[in-house]
Amino acid sequence: MRRLTAVQLSIIVPTFNEAPNVAELVRRVTAAADGIDAEIIFVDDSTDDTPDVIREVAASASLPVRLMHRSSRAGGLGGAVVEGFALAEADACLVIDGDLQHPPEEIPLLYARFAQGDVDIVIASRYVGGGTATGLADRTRVLVSKAATALTRAMFPGRLRGVTDPMTGFFLVDRRAIDAATLRPRGFKILLEILARKTVRVAEVPFAFADRHAGESKASLRQGLHFLAQLTALRFGKMSLFAVIGGLGAVVNIAIVWGLTSLGVDYIVAAVIAAEATIIGNFVLLERFVFHDMREAASGGWLRFAKSFTFNNAEALIRIPVMALLVESWHISVVVATALTLVVAFFVRFVFHSLVVYAPRRADAEPSRMRHFVEELDEQAMSPGEL
Ligand code: GDD
Ligand code: MN
Repeated sequence: MRRLTAVQLSIIVPTFNEAPNVAELVRRVTAAADGIDAEIIFVDDSTDDTPDVIREVAASASLPVRLMHRSSRAGGLGGAVVEGFALAEADACLVIDGDLQHPPEEIPLLYARFAQGDVDIVIASRYVGGGTATGLADRTRVLVSKAATALTRAMFPGRLRGVTDPMTGFFLVDRRAIDAATLRPRGFKILLEILARKTVRVAEVPFAFADRHAGESKASLRQGLHFLAQLTALRFGKMSLFAVIGGLGAVVNIAIVWGLTSLGVDYIVAAVIAAEATIIGNFVLLERFVFHDMREAASGGWLRFAKSFTFNNAEALIRIPVMALLVESWHISVVVATALTLVVAFFVRFVFHSLVVYAPRRADAEPSRMRHFVEELDEQAMSPGEL
C-alpha cells in the first residue's frame, strides 16, 4: 500500500505457526499504535495456514500489513527479524513476538522513549522497574532465563552495562545504528547479537511478559544449545571456539585411552583409537560450529574431511619426532617440549583449517599471495565465530 505520509514505525513480527494469534495481534497492535504511522511486517516461516490467515487479516486491517513468507527458515527467529529490518519502510523497527506475550499496548511507550532521539535501541525489559516474567512457562524456564541473563551480563560487562534483559525479543531499534552485515542471526537471541556486536545507546522500559494467547512455544533445548554456542562465539570469536573444541578433544582423547587401557587394551592401540576418534569428532564439531559459514564456498564435505584428517594425522606424526629433537638436542624438558609443540600445532592447525580446508573453491590468481594470506589469517582469527 502506497501512502502519502512516510511510515514512522515498522513493526516486525516473526511468526512460526501462529495462525490463532494473528487476528488478535493485528487488532491490538492497530489499537495501540493509534496516532503513529505504522506498518506491520510478518516474517513468516510457518508450515501451517498462518500465511493465509495473515493475508485474510491484512485485507481488512486499517494499518498496512505486509507478509514475507520464507521457505528456508534461515537463521530461525533471528534470521526472520534481520530480514524484517531489510524490508521495513521506516528506520525505526520494532520487534514483537506473534503470540501476544509482548503486550502491544506497550508500543507507544517504547516509541515515545525512542522519539526522544538520544538512544539507538529501546528495550522492553522483564527485569527492570515494574517489569515481570510471569508468562514464562514454568519455574524451570524462569530459572533458566535468569541464569542465562546473569551469565550473559557477566560475559559482556561493558556492552551490556545498563541492559537488564538482553534476552528479550521485544525492542525498538534504529536500523541505521546496527551493522546488519556483521550479524549472525541464529535462533532466538537476536537482540543479544545486536548488542554484543556493536556499541549502541540503549534505554529500557519495563513490561510484563504475558501468557501466550494461543498455540505453543517454540523454545527448545536446541535453542538453549544455540544460545550457548552463540555466547561463546560472540565472546571469543572463531579462534577461541576452535580452541575450546580442541581442548574438549584432548579431554575426550585422554578419557578414551584411560577407558580402553583399563579394559585391557594395549596402550599403543588405545592411543591410536583415541587419536582417530578425536580427529573425527573434532572435524564434525568444527564443521558444525566454527566454519559453518565457510562450508558452502569451500570444497565438498568429503574432500574437507580428507584434508582435515590427513593434516591431523600428519601433525601427530611430525610432532613426536620434533618433540624428541627438542628434548635430545636442545635439552628441553619433556613437559616444556610437549607444551611448546602443542601451542605451535594449535596455531598451525587453525591456519590450515581456515585457509586450506575451508578455502573457497575458486582459487583466483593473486598478485601477492603472501599479503592475501596475512590478510585472510588476520580476518579469520579476529572474525566473530559462527554457531
Ligand atoms: N519466522 C520465525 N521463524 N519465527 C519464529 C521462529 C522461526 O523459526 N521460531 C519462533 N518464532 C516466532 C514465534 O512464532 C513467536 O512469534 C516468536 O518467534 C517467539 O517464539 P516463542 O515460541 O513464543 O518463544 P518464547 O515465548 O519461548 O520466547 C520468547 O521469549 C524469550 C524470552 O524468554 C521470545 O520473545 C524470545 O525472543 C525471547 O527471548
Ligand atoms: Mn512466546
